[in-house]
Amino acid sequence: MKEHSGHDVSPVFRPARLGSLELRNRVIRSGAYEGMCVDNGPSPDLVRHHRDLAAGGVGLTTVAYCAVSAGGRTFERQMFIRPGIVPRLREVTDGVHAAGGSASLQLGHCGSFSRNRDVPPGFPRGPSFGINRYGLLSGLPVGRAMTRDDVARTAGDFGDAAAMARESGFDAVELHLGHGYLLSQFLSPAANRRTDRYGGSLENRLRFAQEALARVREAVGADFPVLAKTNLADGFAGGLGIDEAVEVARRLQSAGVTALVLSGGFVSRTPFFLLRGDNPLKDMIEVEESRLHRVALRLFGPAVVRSYPFKEMFFLDLARRVREAVSMPLVLLGGIVSLDNMESALEDGFDFVCLARALIHDPNFVNRLKAGEVRRSACDHCNRCIAEMDRPGGVRCVLPLEGEGA
Ligand SMILES: Cc1cc2nc3c(=O)[nH]c(=O)nc-3n(C[C@H](O)[C@H](O)[C@H](O)COP(=O)(O)O)c2cc1C
Repeated sequence: MKEHSGHDVSPVFRPARLGSLELRNRVIRSGAYEGMCVDNGPSPDLVRHHRDLAAGGVGLTTVAYCAVSAGGRTFERQMFIRPGIVPRLREVTDGVHAAGGSASLQLGHCGSFSRNRDVPPGFPRGPSFGINRYGLLSGLPVGRAMTRDDVARTAGDFGDAAAMARESGFDAVELHLGHGYLLSQFLSPAANRRTDRYGGSLENRLRFAQEALARVREAVGADFPVLAKTNLADGFAGGLGIDEAVEVARRLQSAGVTALVLSGGFVSRTPFFLLRGDNPLKDMIEVEESRLHRVALRLFGPAVVRSYPFKEMFFLDLARRVREAVSMPLVLLGGIVSLDNMESALEDGFDFVCLARALIHDPNFVNRLKAGEVRRSACDHCNRCIAEMDRPGGVRCVLPLEGEGA
């Protein structure tokens, strides 16, 4: 690999501050579920995966979708945070730090989007009673409404989880407020039909997220970087739209969030709004363990899962609306596949760029861009990595590495 080629003077590759944290560059690996858990905690594969990303040059790597409690899991194998896994999480952060990178832990809760049967009777729960399409064939056909106690306890779980993340050596945490998981369900007028102080106006729908954030701040202190991944739009009529998303950003800025990672989509309704590109239905059917689910996917999959064509920087136009409204650091995400994309994001006023699939394809992408070895990712957004998450060994790209830079 060439050491210097002129690309390393790009502002993308210069150190940058994320609150109190100095990152070696402006490239963040997006939280992308790895499928590398053992006993609901990190496996040696997960340690290797994030160490490789750090060795490959990312400034900050995000360990994906860690539930804040056992009941907050979408599926049984998923990681949930507890004191017993702190030593194994520490191995992840030690590996990342030894490779010169920084590490963030994405903290989430599935709400009613669950097919995890390892829950007490009466769960899963979200903002309001409704059909749980995702759990329909797993014996969890409905999501019930959370009580005020559920809300308070879960906000506390976010705080405890953030404290454990910090204790595990993470340099930041990212609260998941998007993609149709719990806090996004509360934010979405389509999913939240409550009439108490957690439903109705935007102020009310945001209250739970703000309470969770307050518990997190109490737990980690004022200086610790706390990112939030938010929706620019849910991607369907009646869901959260860009005007409210802008207001959410303003309020999260006032509430002391360090940076926003701007995304969109609702996993139960518009999963490909957040990804764009091909629908890997055939592969998803292949890895599905439940026979019933396989049949349902075959029959109804094409009709219910809408596709969206891939476009580079596909959230840019919506994200600009947020950029105009707040002064806090913003992270542009979605279809960033080249150094040109990254540089134009910075020119547009975004502070960081966040990538998932380009780094699943090649964990060394940042180093190779910096060395001038490649100009763009060869990821063709086939989205088969989505199905690979559920195969032994976890997420990977099915394409060979050859052909980059063409
Ligand atoms: C295999 C895979 C797993 C993902 N898992 C998560 C996840 O656990 N949490 C999350 O917030 N987003 C997840 N995403 C979405 C990505 O973080 C990102 O928002 C999306 O892929 C768009 O970025 P990209 O165009 O750089 O891939 C996942 C994406 C992929 C491809």
